[in-house]
Amino acid sequence: MKISIIGVGYVGLATGISLCLKGYTVSFYDSDKKKIKSFKRGKVPFVEEDIEETIKECLSNKNAIFADNLKEALENSNIIFLCIGTPILPEGESDLINIKNVCAELRKLVRHEVVVVIKSTVNPGDYLETKNLLSSKNFSIAVNPEFLREGSALQNALHPNRIIIGTDDEYSKKILKELYSKFESPKIFTDPMSAILIKYASNSFLAVKISFINEIANICDIVGASIDDVALGIGLDPRIGRDFLKAGIGFGGSCLPKDTKNLIRFAEKNSLSTNIVKAADIVNENQYKVVIKKLTKNLGTLENKVISVLGLSFKGGTDDLRGSVSLKLIEELKKSGVVVKAHDYLSYEKAKKIIKDIFISKDVYAVVKDADAVVIATDWKEYTKLDWEKIKELMKGNLIVDGRNLLDPKLFKKLGFVYEGIGRK
Ligand code: UGA
Repeated sequence: MKISIIGVGYVGLATGISLCLKGYTVSFYDSDKKKIKSFKRGKVPFVEEDIEETIKECLSNKNAIFADNLKEALENSNIIFLCIGTPILPEGESDLINIKNVCAELRKLVRHEVVVVIKSTVNPGDYLETKNLLSSKNFSIAVNPEFLREGSALQNALHPNRIIIGTDDEYSKKILKELYSKFESPKIFTDPMSAILIKYASNSFLAVKISFINEIANICDIVGASIDDVALGIGLDPRIGRDFLKAGIGFGGSCLPKDTKNLIRFAEKNSLSTNIVKAADIVNENQYKVVIKKLTKNLGTLENKVISVLGLSFKGGTDDLRGSVSLKLIEELKKSGVVVKAHDYLSYEKAKKIIKDIFISKDVYAVVKDADAVVIATDWKEYTKLDWEKIKELMKGNLIVDGRNLLDPKLFKKLGFVYEGIGRK
């Protein structure tokens, strides 16, 4: 069976490489020629665990082919996976332009019978539009949403906790059943709309969980309770579960914020109100302000204060800045007249291109020098292992606002810091 992957971001790459590892031959195509050139040399232009070593293995086995043009990538293909990004537009709708262009190309270039699998996250309306663009006798259409997390995408693709296949036609069902027979995960065969809603409902539910715990954390702050104990106490109820109950400054990334907003917008267009998802979005939009409040409470006016923000990526373990809450926080601090200095292990170069007027470095000790306060904005595990005694010496003040509840409050108090977490006593 020959597979083509169109769009080689972390989803396309992890999906395709997992299929290579299962023994399939996979052709990859991306309109970004520089990316393809780099993959051909076994170099991955973004950070993703295990993937670089694995690509090299697949290249030498000759079952991963990075194609220079779409025609070459589609040759003799039985299954075409569309893994093209659908970035959010200001109104909350998805930008389908890249999908539309590829669909037009597919209709021109593919003459043989093929299953076209939509892996890109598209809402029900966008699905119908895409399906229309693909209406051709030789195309069977299926929706196969992904549940990969950045940072562990390859492992998630190899061992998915479920495989969802939404299709109305028997041919797609048969081919995808065969494709995924090499995966042991539970498989759900359903119709396309249900598959789409499984994806949107999953990400919205995760968003609701995070905003819920953040709201409770804000109450903990008022009454002097501990969000760590509260999250553990509720999470041990298996009906609730412990995952995604980590309080902080809110969720970011290219998925949770986009998918919640997109679902809200889709419902609105259909005269429905998604009150719960909307509330999660509103809580999230405002949650970073808790850091500003804590800084102001301790420092008074923020004007001309030096504040070091540790972490720029939307979460630890990735260099992805899309939807990063840290960037939003930095913009707000700058508006208040703060002298912001920022650190990240991986995204510092990318960040310099976005925020030009602040000091950004990968040297954390240079970033904390002379700071009135340090804010933890990304959950880089490495921050727990820094030489905090040295940091205390380098700082002008002694305030830590831990926006990811990453550090041990007791230890930090012992070191002489004023420690403020989110909902932590
Ligand atoms: C998310 C979902 O977790 C994946 O299942 C889904 O496949 C993916 O979106 C997608 O739609 O492609 P990802 O964007 O990689 O994956 O990031 P998460 O690990 O879910 O984290 C999202 C944000 O929530 C991060 O900013 C993280 O710091 C925050 N978060 C997460 C919390 O604030 N608290 C938590 O308890 C968990």
